[in-house]
Amino acid sequence: MYDKGKVITGLVIFVLIVTFPVWYNVRGAQHIPNPKILTKVKHCVKPLDYMRADHMKLLIDWRYEVVREGDRAKVTVDGVQYERSLVNGCMKCHVSEKKFCDQCHEYVDVNPYCWDCHIKPKETE
Ligand code: HEC
Ligand code: HEC
Ligand code: HEC
Repeated sequence: MYDKGKVITGLVIFVLIVTFPVWYNVRGAQHIPNPKILTKVKHCVKPLDYMRADHMKLLIDWRYEVVREGDRAKVTVDGVQYERSLVNGCMKCHVSEKKFCDQCHEYVDVNPYCWDCHIKPKETE
């Protein structure tokens, strides 16, 4: 004969494991990133899809060109020139690291070491 209690406990554990992705995601859904665009400017320095996927590559390219090649040519967005710079470029429009960059970075658990040296813009409410 079998032990009813153990079978039921086993079944409950089985159901919990099988449905894990479902209830785990329901909990996770509250943390979907919501990066705030806090500038009146309409465009980024590159098309949106490119920026979403590859902004870290662009930053490394800028760094290489500016620091290694001494090329400080500016980028033009909607007729206004911006420095190819993390603090004096990106953060001129994306004024809050917390409300913008961190929204995604906390979600994917990346912590760019850039801020060890580059000074973050002051967060305002
Ligand atoms: C060890 C310190 C240090 C770290 C860490 C660091 N940088 Fe820099 N970065 C510098 C210095 C110094 C310059 C030269 C500043 C200048 O000449 O304008 C610079 C220049 C740059 C520039 C070009 C000009 C400017 O002022 O922004 C870019 C873009 C840049 N860094 C991006 C990054 C990114 C992206 C990261 C992280 C992935 C990073 N840096 C990490 C020290 C650092
Ligand atoms: C001239 C102002 C400006 C500058 C400079 C700028 N951005 Fe943007 N950025 C924007 C705007 C506006 C959007 C939203 C564009 C849209 O919705 O089409 C955006 C979108 C983005 C996105 C996508 C956000 C999302 O919701 O998916 C990322 C990532 C990003 N920028 C990173 C950067 C980085 C990194 C830099 C520097 C290399 C930078 N931006 C420089 C204005 C700027
Ligand atoms: C739309 C979401 C989103 C926004 C907004 C965003 N990032 Fe990112 N960022 C990511 C993702 C996702 C990664 C990790 C990509 C990977 O690991 O392949 C990343 C990685 C990076 C990296 C490389 C870090 C590493 O350790 O490899 C840098 C540098 C970076 N982001 C800079 C910025 C800066 C500066 C801002 C704000 C101006 C910003 N990002 C805004 C999504 C975003």
